[in-house]
Amino acid sequence: FGVRPGSPFLFTIPATGKRPMDFSAEGLPIGLNLDKNTGHITGVVKEKGTHVIVLKAKNALGSSTRQFKIIVGDQIALTPALGWNSWNCFANAVDDAKVRSAADAMAKSGLINHGWSYINIDDCWEIKAKTDDPMLIGEPRNEKGMINTNKKFPDMKTLSDYIHAKGLKMGIYSSPGPLTCAGFTASYQFEENDAQQYAEWGIDYLKYDWCSYGRIAKDNSLPELKKPYFVMRAALNKVNRDIVYSLCQYGMGDVWKWGGEVGGNSWRTTGDITDTWESMTEIGFSQAGHEVNAKPGNWNDPDMLVVGKVGWGPQLHPTKLSPNEQYTHISLWGLLSSPLLIGCDMTQMDDFTLNLLTNDEVLEVSQDPLGKQAGRVSKDGDLEVWAKDMEDGSKAVGFFNRGKWKSEIKARWSDLGIAGKQLVRDLWRQKDLGNFSEEFKVSVPRHGAVLVKISH
Ligand code: GLA
Repeated sequence: FGVRPGSPFLFTIPATGKRPMDFSAEGLPIGLNLDKNTGHITGVVKEKGTHVIVLKAKNALGSSTRQFKIIVGDQIALTPALGWNSWNCFANAVDDAKVRSAADAMAKSGLINHGWSYINIDDCWEIKAKTDDPMLIGEPRNEKGMINTNKKFPDMKTLSDYIHAKGLKMGIYSSPGPLTCAGFTASYQFEENDAQQYAEWGIDYLKYDWCSYGRIAKDNSLPELKKPYFVMRAALNKVNRDIVYSLCQYGMGDVWKWGGEVGGNSWRTTGDITDTWESMTEIGFSQAGHEVNAKPGNWNDPDMLVVGKVGWGPQLHPTKLSPNEQYTHISLWGLLSSPLLIGCDMTQMDDFTLNLLTNDEVLEVSQDPLGKQAGRVSKDGDLEVWAKDMEDGSKAVGFFNRGKWKSEIKARWSDLGIAGKQLVRDLWRQKDLGNFSEEFKVSVPRHGAVLVKISH
């Protein structure tokens, strides 16, 4: 967990099991306090340094401990963000009540106990430029140049207090041009006001789009593509708050090569995802090669998750992805060390969706502290193997069948750069499959995936 010296700290110890629970933390740096009942760690650390903490959770049935590293330094987002974003479900139908119920649902469903933390408002919270909708009209900014919210969001500070009190974090959205993609007030020439306003509201995450900046940029050259992101980075650096900086310009100018240089914690690598097999796989499997650009604090972002009830609001429908396609989606996004932003209405999650998002062994692949992104190891027509190096020396390996028929997929140890007897564990089923030498093969259903951990 990365935090900058002097910034407000918030981390909720993820632990599943019966409440009440009693939390403790050994070795917390000076300035941090733990609420023993909720497991929320808050405070401010002034000095740079690395602290290895031992977290403990205890209930009537037993206890569990885990090491946790806090790095107080320049870099945040040391693991890919786990959260929710309003766009893929609500789009323009987002409002204060829906965001509160998303926070309620993240806590009540138990997602919070698996590490999910961000509640991010996407576009459509600002004043809209051209509209008759009484909820959206008004002065874009006040006399001091501070941005106004529309009537759907009466008080952002109260909303963020509500979210933080649950141990969750809050995100917001803007664009570097005069208007956002949906035609609402954006940050052009008010970047410092906006960064300051976000900090005052208690914002922890900014998705920064590109829309309408095309009119401002002189051309499509790299310096022009980078410029607005440097400007907002500088503005964010001036505020006394850690705000994850998420770039969203769809991969222009090979952003993966310079997203980190402009100070982005993540950058979208493609256009918008929809809940179809074609969209999800075209995006997901096109990430091969980008792994060289990902590391703790800097992540490729192949866009948000399309499981559960989605719809770009107000009408929602169950994702069009089949169950096996959803295993492919979550396995691949985890291997890709992508930010995982749930795109569905969390108040309407069924058991299958919740299971997809709360398998700790699968989430470990996404959240591994080494921060290596998987690369493609082999491709034989529709059959692909992807592998990710893990901190403990093991490999997380995905077997993907993009074809129409059930097929056997094989990974050779020589392709994975390993040798000898290896233990293979099925991560979705949380079950050891046995020891194997030289290779592992598995039958994978059409459009499905098998995700394993290989270790010795
Ligand atoms: C762009 C982004 C989407 C969403 C919309 C909001 O299309 O790529 O993810 O943020 O803008 O208008």
